[in-house]
Amino acid sequence: MPQLDAVVRDIAEEMSRRDDRGEVATYIPQLAHVDPGQFGLAVAAADGSIACAGHSDTPFSIQSISKVFTLTLALGVAGDQLWKRVGREPSGNAFNSIVQLELEQGVPRNPFINAGALAVTDVILSGHPPREALGEILRFIRFAAQDDSIHIDEHVARSEKATGFRNVALANFMKSFGVLQNPVDYVLGTYFHHCAIAMSCRQLALAGRFLAHSGRNPDTNCSMISPERARRINALMLTCGHYDGSGEFAYRVGLPGKSGVGGGILAVAPSHASIAVWAPGLDPTGNSHLGRIALEKLARKMKWSIFGE
Ligand code: DON
Repeated sequence: MPQLDAVVRDIAEEMSRRDDRGEVATYIPQLAHVDPGQFGLAVAAADGSIACAGHSDTPFSIQSISKVFTLTLALGVAGDQLWKRVGREPSGNAFNSIVQLELEQGVPRNPFINAGALAVTDVILSGHPPREALGEILRFIRFAAQDDSIHIDEHVARSEKATGFRNVALANFMKSFGVLQNPVDYVLGTYFHHCAIAMSCRQLALAGRFLAHSGRNPDTNCSMISPERARRINALMLTCGHYDGSGEFAYRVGLPGKSGVGGGILAVAPSHASIAVWAPGLDPTGNSHLGRIALEKLARKMKWSIFGE
């Protein structure tokens, strides 16, 4: 097996030289200012080591990657009852699509499209003020990463609040079907803030370790969720984590993964590693262009695809 450190370093070098970098998201004004020349990669391996290269300590906006952590928390609150509120099928549509929602009576297809994540946030809120729910989300991520410096970027949260008309429409639409129990403003405010959590690749790879190790943090040996729940979250990441690019991601990378419009991807190589990559330029499906290419190379070199060599 090749040396992980060398593989990570080589991939980061190659990615930093490439000209095809995709386009940064501009619909959230604060994200439009991010330099697309950056690239970071961090791999937290099963033996406790972490291989990092490039801009792996630069915090970026995790955006939809936060939906993995909110799903984990909501399953803790509601258990399998959660699946009455949100489906678990791939959508084949853009992450912010509204069409399917009308056909399916306001019940979102899966927890990772925006509508589904709003329903998940509503479950976490259940009776708590937004500030408390947000505190719980942040505490969970800090605990998973064992890093209390992880924070919310208020500029990004405000930027999205000021321009997130599509999410406002989705939330109101779901409220009209009785799918949201809390006030629409509470749900949106909490959602915009958890999307605005800033993390580096190193922090994100550490936070994802419980998904790679049957719900346990391999460093502390602390069980965060059951093995069965970790397996199911990984299944949803594989089938729905890249929206209408999920098939292509599974075909090319072969790992459960969740992307965000900030250009990050959290990928899980079960029993091997938790991987975070960040390259701000996106492909037409809204997923990190170089992030996906880097993960494809890493999975191939390390023989980590869940579908075999
Ligand atoms: O709600 C939004 O549009 C953003 N806060 C998150 C979208 C996102 O990250 C989609 N991922 N590729």
